[in-house]
Amino acid sequence: MKYGYFDNENKEYVITNPCTPVTWINYIGSLEFGGFVDQTGGTAICKGDPALNRMIKYIPQLPNGDFKGETLYLRIKGDKGYQVFSPLYVPTLDQYDRYQCHVGLGYTKIVSEFYGIKTELLIFVPLNDHRVVRAITITNISDDSVNIDAIPVVEYTHFDALKQLTNADWVPQTMQSKMFEDEDHYKVLTQFAFMNKTSKINFFTSSHPISSFESDRKRFLGNNGYSTWRKPYSLFQEELSNYEALRGDNIAALMHHIGVLQPGESKKIITQLGQCADMKAEHKKIKKYRHEEYVESAFQDLKNFWSDYLEKIIVNTPDHAMNTMLNIHNPRQCYITKNWSRDLSLYQLGFGGRGIGFRDSAQDVMGILGHVPEEGRELIEMLLHVQKRDGSAMHQFNAATMEANAGDAREMEDRPQHYSDDHLWIVLAVCAYIKETGNVSFLKKQIPFYEKDKNNKPIESGNVLEHLKRSIEFTRKDVGNHGLPLLGFADWNDTVNLPSGAESVFTANLYGLVLKEMIDLFRYLEDDTTAKQYEIYYETMKENVNKYCWDGEWYIRYFDNHGNPLGSKKNDKGKIYTNAQSWSVISGFAPYERAKQALASVKDMMNTEHGIKLSYPGFNGYIPEKGGITTYPPGAKENGGIFLHSNPWVMIAEALVGNGDLAHGYYSQINPVFKNEMIDQYECEPYCYPQNILGDEHPQFGLGRNTWLSGTASWIYQAAIKYILGIQPTYEGLLINPCIPKAWKGFKITKIFRNATYEIEVMNPNNINRGVKQIVVDDVFVDGQLIPILEDDKKHEVKVLMGQKIPERSTKNELWTF
Ligand code: GLC
Repeated sequence: MKYGYFDNENKEYVITNPCTPVTWINYIGSLEFGGFVDQTGGTAICKGDPALNRMIKYIPQLPNGDFKGETLYLRIKGDKGYQVFSPLYVPTLDQYDRYQCHVGLGYTKIVSEFYGIKTELLIFVPLNDHRVVRAITITNISDDSVNIDAIPVVEYTHFDALKQLTNADWVPQTMQSKMFEDEDHYKVLTQFAFMNKTSKINFFTSSHPISSFESDRKRFLGNNGYSTWRKPYSLFQEELSNYEALRGDNIAALMHHIGVLQPGESKKIITQLGQCADMKAEHKKIKKYRHEEYVESAFQDLKNFWSDYLEKIIVNTPDHAMNTMLNIHNPRQCYITKNWSRDLSLYQLGFGGRGIGFRDSAQDVMGILGHVPEEGRELIEMLLHVQKRDGSAMHQFNAATMEANAGDAREMEDRPQHYSDDHLWIVLAVCAYIKETGNVSFLKKQIPFYEKDKNNKPIESGNVLEHLKRSIEFTRKDVGNHGLPLLGFADWNDTVNLPSGAESVFTANLYGLVLKEMIDLFRYLEDDTTAKQYEIYYETMKENVNKYCWDGEWYIRYFDNHGNPLGSKKNDKGKIYTNAQSWSVISGFAPYERAKQALASVKDMMNTEHGIKLSYPGFNGYIPEKGGITTYPPGAKENGGIFLHSNPWVMIAEALVGNGDLAHGYYSQINPVFKNEMIDQYECEPYCYPQNILGDEHPQFGLGRNTWLSGTASWIYQAAIKYILGIQPTYEGLLINPCIPKAWKGFKITKIFRNATYEIEVMNPNNINRGVKQIVVDDVFVDGQLIPILEDDKKHEVKVLMGQKIPERSTKNELWTF
C-alpha cells in the first residue's frame, strides 16, 4: 500500500493517507527556533535547545492517533449542537474525503476535506525568525451555508524538557498563563514557566478576533480531565472558560467564530506561536505577520532560500530515482542533519542526552559544503572549540551552553573516556571546506581548546592548522601492541566497547585517509617537510594494517585487549565487519588484490536486497565484555543490521576500484524512493534516509527506523556526487573522475564552484565504467581531468568524453585518488 507520491516539480512529497505505518515528519526552522511537524500537524518546537528551552510537548511514544503538541479543531454549528472535528485527522480521527500532507522544503502544507469543509494549512518558520506561522484557509465546498468556529490548540511543556517528565509537582506549580491584550486589541495568550533573567514568554495569537480562550488542559478536555483530545467537552459549549491558569498542564486554545460561510466562500486566519522576552517589544513583529501579504512574502523568501541552496548542484542522470534524491531530498536531509546534528527527532528526543555529536557533525558538515560552505565553516569552528589540547575531542556537547561530555563512556568509568575517531573526522571537514572555497586563511584562525581555567577561561588556543596537527599527533601516539590506534571507549561503531588495550582497524584506516588529506594540504601549502613526515606516518600505519589485519579474505576489525582478533574467521559471531573492508580501500592501505578480495567478501557475505549489513553473524545474547553490540538481537542496528551510514563507504570503495556498476547498484538498493513501493515492510518516510534497516537475520528484515538524523545523508550524497558522478573539488580545480554504470550513455551535472557555474556534460559512448579521455571547457581542451578555477561569475560549458581507461591502480598505490 502506498501512502503518497513524489511531486518533483514542487519539490515535495505528498502524503495522501494520514495513517502512515509510523509517524512521518518534516523539519521547520532550525535549532535556533523550530522543530518538526508530523503528517497530522503535530509539532515539537524548541528555541535554541530542545533540552533547555522546549516549548511544545510532543511525546512520540504515545499511540499514533493521540494528540501531539498542536492541532486545529473546527466545529460546525447545527440545529442539534456542534459537530467537532479536526481537519488534521488527529486527534478526532473522523473519516476524510481528501487528505494531503505536502512535505515541502522547510514547510508542511496540509489540505483536507471533511464534511464539506476544505481546510488548507500552511505551516512554516520564516527565515531568521522565531515563530511558527500557520496560515489557515477554510472553504465551504458544500452546497449549503455553514456556521464555522476554528479552535487552534497547542500544549506547552516546561522549558526544561526532562524535568517536565520527571517532576510532576514542581513543574505544574511553575507553569503560568496570562492573557495579554495588545495595542491593537488583539488577544495574545502567553505562557511561561517562572520568569527569570532570561525570560522566556511563549505566545500564541492569531489574525482574527478571539471570543474566548482556555489555558488549562483539564478544563479544556472536561469531565475532570477524563475526557480525551478526541472529544473535548469544552468544545461543545458556546465559549471556552477564559481561565488564566497559574498552575497545571498549560495549553493555549483560542476560540474563533469564523461565522457563516456561503458555498464556495473562504476565510483565512493566521496563527503565530513564538517566544520572546517582552511582549510589548514583540508586538511590532506579531502585527506584521497578521497580514496575509507579509506571510506570503516570508514564505516566498523561504522558497527562495531553498532554490538557491539546491541550485548549487543539479544533476540529470538516466536514473530518475537518483535524480529525485540528488536534486531535492538528499541535499535537503544534509542540511537538516547539519542543523540538528542528533538533537531532535522522533528517535533522538532532545532531552539533553545527545545534542551535537562531534563525529556526527564533522561528517554531516561535509554534505552541505557544496551548498552553504560558510554555514559549514561556522559549525566546524564550533566543533573545534570542544577539541582538547591533547588533540582528542569531547564526544558531544550542547550548542547553547558549549558544555561537552564523553557520551556513553561516562557510564563505564573503567573504560577510556574518549572515542578514538572523533577528532580525526574534523580534519576531513576542514580540508573539504578549503577545497570547496579556497579559503586557506581559515587555517590561521585562532580557536581555543576545550579546557578552561578556574574562571572558565580557555587555557590554550591554537590556530585551525594546529588543531588538525594535534588530531594527528593524538592518534599517532595512542597506539597499542600492533601499532594500531587504541580503540578508546569506541570508534565509529559506538557499540563495540572493549576493555582498555583493544585496537581499532577502522581508526587506523580513518587515520590513513586523514594523513593523505593532510599530505595533500601541506603539499599545497608548500610545506614539504611536514608532508614528508606525514608520509612516513602513513606508511608505518599502512604496514601495520597489512601485516597484522589481513585475515585471508578480508581485514579484521579489532584486536581485543588480549590481542585476539574480532571480525575474523576465528570468531563465531561478528566474523566480518563491512567497515574494515571499505575503509582499507578508502585509506589506500589495501593493495589492489586485497582491495578487490575484501570488497568481494562484502558482496558475498554482507549484501542483501535491502542494503549491506554492518557485521555478520550477529551476536545472540548479552556479553558485557563485548559491549553494547550484544544488547541487540541478531540483525538489529550495529549487530548485523543494515546500518545505512556504512553503505556509502562501500560505494566509494567500489568507485575507487573502478566498479561503477556495483557502486551504483549499492546506491539504488537503498534509495528511499524505491521504498515507496514497499512501505508496509519498510514503514518509514520514503523521502529521507534512515539510520538502520533490520538485516536478514531478523524476522522483520527490511524494516527501517531512525530516519532523518543520520550520517547516511552526508556520505551517500558525497558517494554519489564525488565518487559515482565523480565531481570533486580540489585545491586547484574541479576534478572530473566519474565511475558510473556501463549502461549509462552519460549524464549532466551543473555545479557552482568558486564563483563560476560549470555546466558539465559527460558522454560515455563506449559504455565504460571509468576513464576520461578528453575534457573541453568552453571549446578549449584541458590537460588531464582538472577543470581550472575560473572565479568569474560566468557560466562555462564543460564537455567530458569518457574513454581510454585510466590505468588500474598498480600495487604501488600511486594512482589512487580520494
Ligand atoms: C549512530 C551515531 C554515530 C555512530 C553510529 C554507529 O548513528 O550517531 O555517531 O557512529 O551510530 O555506532
